[in-house]
Amino acid sequence: MTQTLTLRRPDDWHLHLRDGDMMRAVLPHTATHFARAIIMPNLVPPVVTGADASAYRDRIMAALPAGSGFTPLMTLYLTEDTDAEDVAAAHASGLIHAVKLYPAGATTNSASGVANFNKVAHVFEKMAEIGLPLCTHGEVTDPSVDIFDREAAFIERVMDPIRRAHPDLRVIMEHITTSDAVDYVKSADKNLAATITTHHLVINRNHILAGGIKPHYYCLPVAKRESHRLALRAAATSGDARFFLGTDSAPHTDANKLLPCGCAGCFTAPNTMSILAEVFEQEGALDKLEAFTSLNGPAYYGLPANADTITLTREGPRYPAAIDTPDGPVTVFDPDMPLNWSVV
Ligand code: NCD
Ligand code: ZN
Repeated sequence: MTQTLTLRRPDDWHLHLRDGDMMRAVLPHTATHFARAIIMPNLVPPVVTGADASAYRDRIMAALPAGSGFTPLMTLYLTEDTDAEDVAAAHASGLIHAVKLYPAGATTNSASGVANFNKVAHVFEKMAEIGLPLCTHGEVTDPSVDIFDREAAFIERVMDPIRRAHPDLRVIMEHITTSDAVDYVKSADKNLAATITTHHLVINRNHILAGGIKPHYYCLPVAKRESHRLALRAAATSGDARFFLGTDSAPHTDANKLLPCGCAGCFTAPNTMSILAEVFEQEGALDKLEAFTSLNGPAYYGLPANADTITLTREGPRYPAAIDTPDGPVTVFDPDMPLNWSVV
């Protein structure tokens, strides 16, 4: 039986770091395992301009533990007022690596997102021209669409029309949760990839709703039925270069999760690598873990894979059930999940 696993150091292609005290509390948990992460721009107010992203990057760098080699890969939050020239300049200087599309109102801090997709067509044109990827939160916000159907509706109503209008635009469908999304990504021969989170490989909607409501499992897009989870596991463990890790680690204090109207988001940074090793071993696919965590993402983003490595050993991981922040504790995703792998 394999006792140790050595992989190219992983990257996280979708991460919420927040700002201020919360950022200082959560950042070390990512920086200790991951070399790079695509940093989500949904702060309040959002990271909209190149100047915003530059200032946010400086704050992240200042919060890094001494000696950390972690590199934040910045993104801009697309609004109907986004200036395509500012986007192009931020890309040309090496500051930003993607632009993030949130349909207005789809998730946490998305009020400034896009309502009318025609208004941003010129930004998509510029991005296609310069090779800057678009990351999408793929859910429609139409209140008449059932929340479990919002990803599939987004593909049909928004994603496919955008891709047909801009065939050269490089797109990443983030945190996909359905077999519909897996099939859609596989149907594309170029310019389409998807990230998959750790938690969507582990939970289905029963985990959230059966036997009492479990706010710590609530995130957006919400976990779907079991057949979808199995499709995600098959895609992630297949080695297919179009699928890679984006944890969507999204810290909220317990006080903000455990409310009559609690926040969406799972905090997976501390135990993601241990959980993924477990999932890939269960699927008989430990040999595909490195592709998912460390190779497919950089290849799609046009970056080199990391030169250094991380090693996991077969022993129960040690991580806290919750981390302390000045705003209160943040519970780690599924802290009681039995796990057999820990990062050395
Ligand atoms: C994210 C957050 O908290 O910022 N929440 C989540 O459930 N994933 C926003 C997002 O990515 O949808
Ligand atoms: Zn997210």
